[in-house]
Amino acid sequence: TDVYPFYQEHQAGILTPAQDRLHFAAFDVSAGTTRAGLIELLQDWTVAAAAMAAGRDIGDFGAVSGPYDAPPEDTGEALDLPASGLTITFGFGPSLFEDADGVDRFGIRARRPDELTELPHFPGDMLEPGRSGGDLCIQACADDPQVAVHAIRNLSRIAFGRAVIRWSQLGFGRTSSTSTSQATPRNLFGFKDGTSNIKAEEPGAADAHVWVGAGGGPAWLAGGSYLVARRIRMTIETWDRSILREQEAVFGRDKGEGAPLSGGTEFTAPDFAITGRGDLPLIGAAAHVRLAHPTRNAGIRMLRRGYNFVDGTDALGRLDAGLFFISFQSTPENFTAVQLNLARHDALNEYIRHVGSALFAVPPGAARGSYVGAALFA
Ligand code: HEM
Repeated sequence: TDVYPFYQEHQAGILTPAQDRLHFAAFDVSAGTTRAGLIELLQDWTVAAAAMAAGRDIGDFGAVSGPYDAPPEDTGEALDLPASGLTITFGFGPSLFEDADGVDRFGIRARRPDELTELPHFPGDMLEPGRSGGDLCIQACADDPQVAVHAIRNLSRIAFGRAVIRWSQLGFGRTSSTSTSQATPRNLFGFKDGTSNIKAEEPGAADAHVWVGAGGGPAWLAGGSYLVARRIRMTIETWDRSILREQEAVFGRDKGEGAPLSGGTEFTAPDFAITGRGDLPLIGAAAHVRLAHPTRNAGIRMLRRGYNFVDGTDALGRLDAGLFFISFQSTPENFTAVQLNLARHDALNEYIRHVGSALFAVPPGAARGSYVGAALFA
């Protein structure tokens, strides 16, 4: 199976070919944790993340080689499992720089980029505080769910007394492809998702749209990115009763092939000018791909890296299912611009509800011997 090195120029888990499984966790730093305590936590997380990404258990003695009279350093459920393409990606939320009471707990407020504030309230948002925000985040992706869960579990255990999980999300069946070597997967509405996503092989695209440039923000964030997470509930039952023509019109693509309704095959560029019966455009004015398309958003693109989720059923017997949307972009303003357009006009809104939201600045990759985010505290 794949092994992705942890120590890289950019953090892994962004341009890395999207793995099949996700465990995402947002943390709040515990009261009383000092600046030195936070730095130590990031150092401990870095060492453990590098070990797990290499397919090793954590600590000096791991899961079973330590003293009998102490709890094992590693929880053990990933013993015998390969690295499974595990990537662990860390991010810093706006509240790390200034908490809800306006307190600069860690002496980093002056280093907060102007863009790193909570996302605005979008029309239709029904956000639950318990599924939103967070001081820190960890995105663990792997091709084996047990490996992803093992990573979050051990990192949260390491954080004991210093940070606690605020919310977390499991995901499956990546809803994007980030490499041309990958076939396009499908979301829970049955549509191919990720067709015109930014792909790692596309020269210049990541530099232009994903990474924060050297002059594009504070020096500590150069080579990093901004992660937006949105828990988007899908009203599956309503969708499943809508006719195929309506389903295709909502996206502006056909369901079988994923081709734009203006014609061609999956990777044909959509043509928004072509009209059909009654002189109406084949890709309607409210179609998702029209509204999200770079030509309708001042050229904005983002790297989408979301996952499907099904968290059982709700009190009414409906699937608590949807898309855990994750995107990486060079500035959160790019997400905001596209999402405003979608929130106002998207035909998809009849079938979805945004219930969770978070924004994190993702520092560049750590150098060996250093730790994730070191430049923020230098
Ligand atoms: C394209 C589904 C939410 C941004 C697409 C496509 C599908 C899709 C099927 C066409 C295939 C592709 O190019 O990937 C969904 C579903 C969503 C959702 C089911 C919610 C449950 C969002 C959100 C954003 C977004 C919240 C960003 C604010 C985009 C972009 C494209 C796209 C940028 C590519 C447009 C293009 O260049 O053609 N989405 N999407 N989507 N979506 Fe979404």
